[in-house]
Amino acid sequence: MTTAPVAEHRLPLAGRHIALGVTGSIAAFKAADLASKLRQAGATVEVVMTPAATQFVTPLTFQSLTGRDVVVDMFSAREAEAHIEVARRADALVIAPATADCLANLATGQTPDMVTLTALATRAPVLVAPAMDNQMWEHPATQANVATLRGRGVTLVGPNPGRLATGRVGAGRLAEVPEVLGALRTVLGKLHGDLAGRRVVVSAGGTQEPLDPVRYVGNRSTGKMGFAIAEAARDRGAEVTIVAGPVALETPFGIARVDVGTVAQMLAALETATAGSDALVMSAAPADFRPNDPAEHKLKKAPGEDSMHVHLAKNPDILASLPGGGVRVGFAAETQNLAANAVAKLASKRLDFIVGNDVTAAGSGFGTDTNQVTIFHAGGRIEELPLMTKYEVAHAIWDRVAERLRARE
Ligand code: PMT
Repeated sequence: MTTAPVAEHRLPLAGRHIALGVTGSIAAFKAADLASKLRQAGATVEVVMTPAATQFVTPLTFQSLTGRDVVVDMFSAREAEAHIEVARRADALVIAPATADCLANLATGQTPDMVTLTALATRAPVLVAPAMDNQMWEHPATQANVATLRGRGVTLVGPNPGRLATGRVGAGRLAEVPEVLGALRTVLGKLHGDLAGRRVVVSAGGTQEPLDPVRYVGNRSTGKMGFAIAEAARDRGAEVTIVAGPVALETPFGIARVDVGTVAQMLAALETATAGSDALVMSAAPADFRPNDPAEHKLKKAPGEDSMHVHLAKNPDILASLPGGGVRVGFAAETQNLAANAVAKLASKRLDFIVGNDVTAAGSGFGTDTNQVTIFHAGGRIEELPLMTKYEVAHAIWDRVAERLRARE
């Protein structure tokens, strides 16, 4: 199965110059994966290292992964100008891993090595991913340095709790590569994205309507579509709130998340989240019906009974209940008569456009990483999009939301 090519201008890291600073921590080996992923995302990666970092990973490793010279020694004649050039060219500087010593030097503006020197010389946004022993991280000196850096607009990602190199368990692990990439996209989106300054809300996943304390009526939505929509909006600079049904997905960096269980809870959360927002994309699959009278205790099989009847009551329609305001986008998950059903929902739910989703089509619908959708606009325009990743579908949606927001101004 082939998908449509990813539009280059929608890849937030494509064509960007990213300076990657690596300092002397055992987690330095993870920076190699980060450098590789940045390059795969279309960025030009220029690595600067402290001498201590070269004890853990060789410059040759980064040179091979990035295809560019690595700068370590700021006193070598060949590299004398290089540090300033790396700092000047950078669209962002990522320091990963950053040791406690590095944080202290950054906070006081000291430049004993190429990494801190690049940080002082650049005017690009700086993102720092610390990694160290948990007691060093928790020390008031380190926390004061972190507060200073945050106050100056530096973005901190991690450290995460978990097992450390020392064998101890605590906060000090380098943030995982997807988290660092998410943080970088957030930072770049705010600077360059067409949704910067906008506040948007996305719903994702299904709902679970209790039948008794252990069972529920639900559906197959995994939240992948909604989370991709939220990430794409974040990557274009928006402030994003995701209202999520019970799904097994990590919260992407920079996105505010409200977890809900039932349609009633989703409606209440969306009423709050959408107040004053610029757009709502309703990709959740809320249950149309709920068990009328959930049992207080676990239902039991009665001897001799071969069947059981559950009375279902109609749930409120969330979209129809929410007041207008921003751009309103719905989805129509259908197994037949896609166009007729989608157009009927477009009108009854007062939407700007609805994303028709044939959930029986190959590679589309619940749980897949791809989706093929047709967009039905209020006014009658219909656009059939090719099979794409859910992240690309998300951008196609935001392209159209951004168009509508511009048209309203
Ligand atoms: O989560 P994934 O596994 O990635 O799957 C993605 C998806 C298939 C769930 C998604 O692409 C999708 O199609 N979502 C819409 C699911 C749905 O509930 O469709 P619907 O046709 O029943 O509802 C129409 C619209 O009304 C939807 O925007 C829905 O969110 C909304 N709705 C539905 C019921 C309700 N009580 N209130 C609502 O507002």
